[in-house]
Amino acid sequence: MTPFTHHLFICGNCRAEGHPRGSCDPEGQGDLKNALTKRVLRPQVRANHAGCLDQCELEPVVVIYPQEIWYGGATLSYVDRIVEQTIIKDETITELQIKAEMLNTKGKGSSNDGPYHPSEGSSS
Ligand code: FES
Repeated sequence: MTPFTHHLFICGNCRAEGHPRGSCDPEGQGDLKNALTKRVLRPQVRANHAGCLDQCELEPVVVIYPQEIWYGGATLSYVDRIVEQTIIKDETITELQIKAEMLNTKGKGSSNDGPYHPSEGSSS
């Protein structure tokens, strides 16, 4: 079997409205996963639904292995860029990237750049 060049895990966790940690897929329809599945280049690229990836405050969250690229704020509007830049060109989309120091911090982080939340449009 040919190994995957990119294996995307798309959080599809759906919590009740108003939950303090938010929800990557508030409608529970899997729209982001379905859109990425339609665009990925099989058989070397695969997109899978994932449960909570524990980066909820940075939703919607996608992680790509083996590159270990974490994206937050990965809304449907980014599907084309994720495919064209990250999968085809092996480029990281900096404005979506959850930096290593932000992982597992519940969105608070420790970077000198200040807390990063993709929905605030921060990038550096
Ligand atoms: S709900 Fe998506 S990372 Fe937790």
